[in-house]
Amino acid sequence: MKAIEIRTYGGPEGLAVVERPAPVPAAGEVVIAAQAVGVGGVDTVIRSGALAAYGFKEGHVPGSEVAGTVSAVGDGVDTSWIGRRVWGFTGTGGGYVEQAAVPVREILPLPDDLSAADAVTLGSSGVVAHYALAHARFAPGEAVLVRGAAGSIGVMTVQLAARGGAAAVAVTTSSAERGARLRQLGATHVLDRSGEGGQDAPAGYDVIIDIIAGDDLPSFFDRLNPNGRMVVVGVVAGRPPADFGTKMLAAFRKSLSFATFSADTVTAADRHAVRGEQFAAAGRGDLAAVVHELLPLDQAVLAHRKMDDGEVFGRIVLTP
Ligand SMILES: NC(=O)c1ccc[n+]([C@@H]2O[C@H](COP(=O)([O-])OP(=O)(O)OC[C@H]3O[C@@H](n4cnc5c(N)ncnc54)[C@H](OP(=O)(O)O)[C@@H]3O)[C@@H](O)[C@H]2O)c1
Repeated sequence: MKAIEIRTYGGPEGLAVVERPAPVPAAGEVVIAAQAVGVGGVDTVIRSGALAAYGFKEGHVPGSEVAGTVSAVGDGVDTSWIGRRVWGFTGTGGGYVEQAAVPVREILPLPDDLSAADAVTLGSSGVVAHYALAHARFAPGEAVLVRGAAGSIGVMTVQLAARGGAAAVAVTTSSAERGARLRQLGATHVLDRSGEGGQDAPAGYDVIIDIIAGDDLPSFFDRLNPNGRMVVVGVVAGRPPADFGTKMLAAFRKSLSFATFSADTVTAADRHAVRGEQFAAAGRGDLAAVVHELLPLDQAVLAHRKMDDGEVFGRIVLTP
């Protein structure tokens, strides 16, 4: 089968189309004949080599979610899965393939009215957005700021905060055009990447969901209301300065909270419960899966180039 591997760390051209043996499902696994593969922000970070210290090696197949039809099952797996349309989580790699082996506990049936492309667009990002807001103890009537709102996690966070009754949903983004699209998803105020601008934007926020981190992170502490909570779910701009906590301590009398959130701390059962609800909502049209573009699997280099160029709004989907 065709697969995409990271032949050399660095730019998108380091990705190569290769032939690999089709997977045979181990005990407890299914094989999914993939119709859609999600391209995540973390895939480009792994490809750059920035996470080599975490054990990612050249030869790694990126991609963490696929959707398609179950074509085979391993020992101990109910054979009635064969032929069913499912979404599957492959972990921190293994998704950019024509056929993916996935533990049965990591698959979820797709509703008839949800396409494979829509499923891989919101399958992981919607769960991260949901639990990030829960981790921040977001409550209806509160003001929310989503930093990095135009990415796959951001577009889901904006929608869930708006649907959850936020008094305001401010977003940071790099252009007015992207801001207009975020307004269609529920954003009420559009700020630039530094958090400036946005006519009549709230003076402070009860919750900040931050997908960006980087050097500017501490400046966003100033935008939290008393008892405000910031939850970092991504590091698109890299790590914050080492002394970022100093800034928060300087605002001691505001009783601020800072936390990180990783979906790894949520059980597969809890992730599936939320994902199932979101799949149903997307099928009904109550939640938008924001697909930036469909590209053939062997165009993964182009997909990563578009990611690196910052032109993606939502998620690119590869179609094997
Ligand atoms: N917590 C979890 O469980 C979990 C799970 C999966 C992934 N992640 C993490 O989430 C991140 C990827 O999320 P994603 O796919 O939603 O993001 P993304 O698409 O990579 O980026 C989101 C947006 O950030 C803005 N941006 C890019 N570079 C920026 C910069 N230097 N400064 C400020 N804004 C910038 C861009 O929008 P504009 O141009 O409009 O500003 C971009 O669309 C990664 O760090 C990944 O590791 C976390």
